[in-house]
Amino acid sequence: MSAALSNATFAGIPRASIVATGSYVPSRVLTNADLEKMVDTTDEWILTRTGIRERHIAEPDEATSDMGAEAARRALANAGVAAEDVDLIVVATITPDMGFPNTACFVQAKIGAKNAFCFDIEAACSGFVYGLDIARQYIGTGSARTVLVIGAEKISCITDWSDRSLCVLFGDGAGAAVVQSVPGRNGILASVMRSDGTLSDLLKLPGGGSRHPTSAETIAQGLHYMKMEGRDVFKHAVTCMTDVARRALDRAGLTVDDLDLIIPHQANQRIVSAIGERLGGAPEKYYVNLDRYGNTSAASVIIALDEAHRMGRLQRGNRVLLVAFGGGFTWGATVLEW
Ligand code: ACO
Repeated sequence: MSAALSNATFAGIPRASIVATGSYVPSRVLTNADLEKMVDTTDEWILTRTGIRERHIAEPDEATSDMGAEAARRALANAGVAAEDVDLIVVATITPDMGFPNTACFVQAKIGAKNAFCFDIEAACSGFVYGLDIARQYIGTGSARTVLVIGAEKISCITDWSDRSLCVLFGDGAGAAVVQSVPGRNGILASVMRSDGTLSDLLKLPGGGSRHPTSAETIAQGLHYMKMEGRDVFKHAVTCMTDVARRALDRAGLTVDDLDLIIPHQANQRIVSAIGERLGGAPEKYYVNLDRYGNTSAASVIIALDEAHRMGRLQRGNRVLLVAFGGGFTWGATVLEW
């Protein structure tokens, strides 16, 4: 191991750091006022129940990999890293371009990362946090030096635009992080990932897979649209994110007061506030941008992290908590030093 690399090791294991981020959202904005014209809802209902004011919606010909590739280009430019130097691309998404090939391969081709190997992961809204943990493992074993972790979603294409209980919640977009081992930086301090498949029925996209292959019947039944038991999801999201955040902080040997910034999954302001009440920490430490993007699923945490950085909310050495929850159920938390 080189002297440079050993500076960034912990007990001989290379530490993974996010060295740069980038994000992209489509230019088309769908406001609550627009939704009032589409379904029986009001700006007031959406705002008080969710905190969301508007969201970005991809164009019909804009696929998840198009958004992911643009976020990746921006992250690589911010890192000063050439696409050819990327060893691994992980795309977290529940809205891949196709059943296969994986969306990461499409991103690879678009950005010219010809030396990377590529795969997708599907952990719903926890996707970016799961992907970051995968990057950490590859870097920790020395199997990769530069990993691109992307959260990208075109949730609008699995949304039933006549279902007012769901269509107001989500938005499209992508974020990317360049992850490397950097001399003198501690990077990711701890991460804890959890799942509970017994609760899979509460949040799902039933059609289009091997259980219900697409047919005229599945389309007539609307199985190609996301389904959710909102109240149950809400309760589990609060309990699970609070618990896993505490576990990750414990593992890092820190408390919430040691954190400079908390980036929760951007699903709903009421979920964020409920986590804040349980976990503690000053409210201004909780970064929220869901009012402008809605819930972008796997992209939500990384879009928020990238925006927080661009807004000057992150300084080198700051301690940051990322915490997410999604279908599966899946949930996870990462504590890192910026
Ligand atoms: N506009 C107006 N009324 C609506 C709307 C709408 N857009 N949607 C639902 N309603 C009505 C319902 O029909 C219901 O009417 P009823 O009492 O006459 O039957 C009433 O509002 C209350 O509905 P609830 O579902 O009980 O409302 P609730 O306060 O639970 O809020 C919400 C619903 C916002 C979906 C909430 O449950 C929630 O945020 N859950 C978490 C869901 C989530 O964020 N999922 C994202 C994926 S997982 C994740 O990212 C964490």
